[in-house]
Amino acid sequence: MSMTPMSQIKTLLQGERILLVGGAGFIGHNLALDLRTLGVEVMVADNLMINSLIDVLYSTKISPVQRALYLNFLIDRFDLMREANVEFRNVDARSMVDLGRAFDEFQPTKVVHLSAIASAVDAGKDPGLCFDLQLNTLRNILELCRPAASKVNQVMELSSSTVYGDFEGDSVDENTRPRPHGIYSNTKYMGERLIRTYAHQHNLGITIIRPSALYGERCVSRRVSQVFIENALSGKPLLLEGGGDGKLDFTYIKDLINGMIRTLAYYKERGSTQTFNITFGNARSIAELAGVIRQVVPDAILEERPRALDKPIRGTLSIERASREIGFKPEWPLETGYLQYCQWYKREWERAERMAARGL
Ligand SMILES: NC(=O)c1ccc[n+]([C@@H]2O[C@H](COP(=O)([O-])OP(=O)(O)OC[C@H]3O[C@@H](n4cnc5c(N)ncnc54)[C@H](O)[C@@H]3O)[C@@H](O)[C@H]2O)c1
Repeated sequence: MSMTPMSQIKTLLQGERILLVGGAGFIGHNLALDLRTLGVEVMVADNLMINSLIDVLYSTKISPVQRALYLNFLIDRFDLMREANVEFRNVDARSMVDLGRAFDEFQPTKVVHLSAIASAVDAGKDPGLCFDLQLNTLRNILELCRPAASKVNQVMELSSSTVYGDFEGDSVDENTRPRPHGIYSNTKYMGERLIRTYAHQHNLGITIIRPSALYGERCVSRRVSQVFIENALSGKPLLLEGGGDGKLDFTYIKDLINGMIRTLAYYKERGSTQTFNITFGNARSIAELAGVIRQVVPDAILEERPRALDKPIRGTLSIERASREIGFKPEWPLETGYLQYCQWYKREWERAERMAARGL
């Protein structure tokens, strides 16, 4: 399929009402904003229990500049969503009653499941909570959609590239057999199995998205792409394990949202399941990431470290299927996407420094 103009996507999404469960997070609020620009009605249901304002306000592990920075990111999310007329409900999606109320009120035609502990490391520290937020919330969505299958035409599940486990070659596609390890990847894969079962047995339309190594504006998750630019800006070294030769399929949030919107517009019929890798589609090394940072912070300090033996082996996620079936074409390689993000981060860092100096 060739790249479809956004005007056509807008027409395809006309009349849709999309509920984003866990939608106040990094991916969710960016998706909400872009859907609103296409005229789609959006409700976010989120209880702010992960990566939240309270965590940031009470953390003793971050500096005053980081506190000001992260609070700005989180408050900006809400300001942008309010200005874009995104509806918001404070809902714990583990509660069927609370989530059911949001369903009754909003009457969604599509539901996107985003709630989770979105860090494999944090999930490993609290496996019970990981299970609850990943799977019990998904169960509630599916049970609410089952009787409403005539109204809800698609449920989208945010899975992860980690379901593939250690890569055996340089790249994987959607036919590569998943070999998840750890609680985060296993609950993701269990979620995929669960949602496929509902599609086949209860005639739901299902889409599974596998993203990888995201970076972008207003993210507070502190993955390597964020830690590196922060370290550079605060004079701390960027630690390059094994010389920084480990590779990840780094993806700018704008490309992921573009792919998600295409899959929402081009969903197949009820009872069908689709699985898509939505990434940049070309793994890049940590050393290359550090190279982009040097363009924004020329005196960034790079320090080599021995490679950790338990580091997962990753690589490229093929996006050939998404290109063929939904016309997905990522536009942001590290050289432009990560550069733009780092330049934005530097401005935000300086704003936070001024606020912290004034004791805000
Ligand atoms: N960011 C990435 O690089 C990445 C990569 C692959 C997959 N994913 C997946 O995408 C999804 C979204 O990730 P993100 O980066 O936006 O994470 P995030 O932490 O920014 O957002 C998750 C949101 O879910 C909400 N939430 C958690 N439990 C909830 C509950 N019980 N009820 C209602 N809301 C609840 C949180 O408050 C938070 O706002 C997750 O499932 C994550 O595993 C993310």
